[in-house]
Parts: sequence; structure tokens; C-alpha cells
Amino acid sequence: MSSVIEGNAAHLELADRYLPGASLGMFQLPHESRFVIARGKGSRVWDSDGKEYIDFVMGSGPMVLGHAPDSVVEAVQNQVALGSTFYGLNEPVVRLAHEICEASPCGEMARFTCSGTDATFSAIRLARAYTGRERVLKFDGGWHGGHDYAQQDMADDGQTSRPLSDGIPKGATDTVLVSPFNDAAAATDLIGRYATELAAVIVEPLQRAIKPEPGFLEALREVTDKHGIVLIFDEVVTGFRLAWGGAQEHYGVTADVAVYGKTISGGYPLAAVCGKKEVIDCADPGRKGKGPYVFISGTFNGNPISATAGLATIDALHQPGVYERLFEVTDRLATGFDKAAAERGIPFQIIGDGPVLQPFFFTDPIRNHADSQRGDRTRITQFGDSMIEQGIFINPSGKIYLSLAHTDEDIDRAIDVAGNAFDQMN
Ligand SMILES: Cc1ncc(COP(=O)(O)O)c(C=O)c1O
Repeated sequence: MSSVIEGNAAHLELADRYLPGASLGMFQLPHESRFVIARGKGSRVWDSDGKEYIDFVMGSGPMVLGHAPDSVVEAVQNQVALGSTFYGLNEPVVRLAHEICEASPCGEMARFTCSGTDATFSAIRLARAYTGRERVLKFDGGWHGGHDYAQQDMADDGQTSRPLSDGIPKGATDTVLVSPFNDAAAATDLIGRYATELAAVIVEPLQRAIKPEPGFLEALREVTDKHGIVLIFDEVVTGFRLAWGGAQEHYGVTADVAVYGKTISGGYPLAAVCGKKEVIDCADPGRKGKGPYVFISGTFNGNPISATAGLATIDALHQPGVYERLFEVTDRLATGFDKAAAERGIPFQIIGDGPVLQPFFFTDPIRNHADSQRGDRTRITQFGDSMIEQGIFINPSGKIYLSLAHTDEDIDRAIDVAGNAFDQMN
């Protein structure tokens, strides 16, 4: 190693050369406002040039307590000294399984993975093994990660799927049906027609930031019960975030299997498939060759460092007043953005539930993915660009995540800055 690499420009030059799209995946900042993160604490991140940002990306959701919260850092530091991974059972992960199963309305057993993608993939494989059926139904625009059955959206016929990535075998695509979110009649009809072939219905109960309409999740529960189909709630975002019992508690509908990630990870790689014993127990290696058996295993699955971080995080989320605060801080931001846009005559809405929001520059109601794709997309990029330049780190085309680290002053600053961004649009 020869030269010292310092500052945004030097790091970005290397990223351009060595990382496809100078990115880690689908998240890319506009070229003019991109930066490299050097560190984070609480509601703030600092880039390699030392510029400070109030962060509303929050690691895409895991940092619900803010960055590097003292309680998590201390717990992880203690665990690091005790060993980082063992492959065999470890104490923190057994305790985390207990906590998650007790909190989750459908939770009887859990199997850990390293990412939300691994976990939704595993949930689908479990449902297939348990039912002996192959098809799964997802909802248009519903996000379940990167695997072949998740990277699918609605084809033009309004019921089959089309891959969102090249490199996905046609056989995988052929097993996925897709229905519009919030259309109970369409979903019930499609599920009914394929009932004997469907292993699972997988849904984000809060799809991106779109709330389920009253009766939608209930209809899915009823029709899947009727046909013996496994109902999977993807609670990677909503779990422990909308309420201690996640979306199942918040919306009052209990799934067969719930998938957790982000919040239960404490910011370290960890996710879990949790649910009814009769389904999750198919992952017992002792069942191999004897009946429905599903392989779900990995070197780092359930590693004690991530589990320790997860335990420290959900412990903080279990304190009185936490969810009230998360909703209060979100409401302050949403109301402030709405008011700032209205004062300037900008067509604008900000949707979401709990500490998850998403802004749109049109006012037609958003009930499903197709609705969310309407409107002038250039404005959202302009808005994101302007916010980032003014020191507010947001995902220009995605969600705003609030945390317990955000203060009222942070929110008021973001509202002022949004006002400036709206001014630039006039
Ligand atoms: C609802 C939902 N499910 C699954 C995933 C995939 O999780 P991961 O990125 O950890 O693979 C995500 C990621 O954003 C998500 O939002």
C-alpha cells in the first residue's frame, strides 16, 4: 500500500474503478451530490470530507435507534471479546429466538439467516415443502429482496410475473403469480383459481409505504386459510417498528409465517423466519429423508455478534413510550413537509405508517404500485439532490426512515431545508 486515500473525491475515484455503478447495489446517489460515508452517530452521518448530514436513510431501516447507539456498541464490544462466530448454538441467538417468538403473534419457532433476502427465500422454500406445492403469489411492487422468486413484478396479463433482473431462469418466473396490492377481490379470485398449486402468499403488510386498506389483509387471511396456503408476512421493515408485535399487531391480522430483518439485526447481518411450529420445524435437520425437510443453514446464520446487537436493539424498543415517540416524530416531519409544499403550491403528498414515509410529487391517491409510478419522477430526484446538498441525507427515490435518535430540532431543520428544495422547483 503506497498512497493514503482521503476525502470523497479519492474514494469515489476508486469506487468508480472497482465497484459496479460505484455502488453496493441498487442505491445510487445522484452524481452531483454523491459522497462516501466515513462514520455515523445518532441521527448523523459524516462524509469523507467531514461534511455532516442529518440521516433519513438510516442504513435502509436497521438503525431504528440511530447510528452506533451506546447500548448496542457496548454489548457488541463485550461479545466481540467472547468470540465472533461458533457455528454451533450460542447464548445470544437462543435468547433472541425466544424474544422474537414471544413478540410475534404467529411466532412459535424461528430459524435465523443473514439477510432479509435469505429469509424470504427460506420462508417460501418452507411453504413449498410444507404444502407440497410450487407456486407463490406476491404483490406488484412488493419488495422481498434479491432472490429469483422475489425479483418479479406483474406481467401485462395482470396475474403472471416478469423478472426484474436478467439471469433469472424462466422456471423460477413461471412459479410466481402477481396481483395488485390492496385489491382484495383480484387477489381472492387469483388465489382461488390456483388454490391447489399455491404454496404461499407473501405480502409486505405495509407495501413500501402504502398502507393496507381495511379488509385487504383480512381477505388474504381468509382465502389462504380456506385453501391451506401459507400466509407469509414480510415484516423485514414493519417488524418491531410499527409496534412491538409488528404489522401483525398493528393491523390486527396474524400470518402463518413472519419474516424479520433490519430492526432485529441491530445494524449487523441478521434476519429470521418465524412462525407456526408445523411450518418452521421443517427446517429441523433431523427430518432429512423422513418428511418435509428444508435446508436452511449458513456459516454466519445466527452469529452471536449480530444476535447481541439485535437483543440490545429490541431491548431498547421494549421501553415505555418508544412507539409513541416514533409515531410523533414521523408525524412532525410529514405535517411539516405537507405544509411547506402547500404554502408553495407544490403538488405533494407523503405517505406511510409509523416511522416509514415516502414523498411523492402528485396528489392522486396511492393504493398500489401502479399508482405510485405515476406523476413527475424528475421532481423527486431534484428534491433528493437539493436535500442532500443542504445536508439532509435522504434516498431520492425511496423511503424516509425515522429513528429514536431524531430530535424535534432535526425534524424542524429537515422541514426548513425541504422548503428551500420546494422553492427551487418553482
Ligand atoms: C420488506 C423487505 N423484505 C425483504 C428485504 C430484503 O432484505 P435484505 O436487503 O436484508 O436482503 C427488504 C430490503 O429492503 C425489504 O424491505
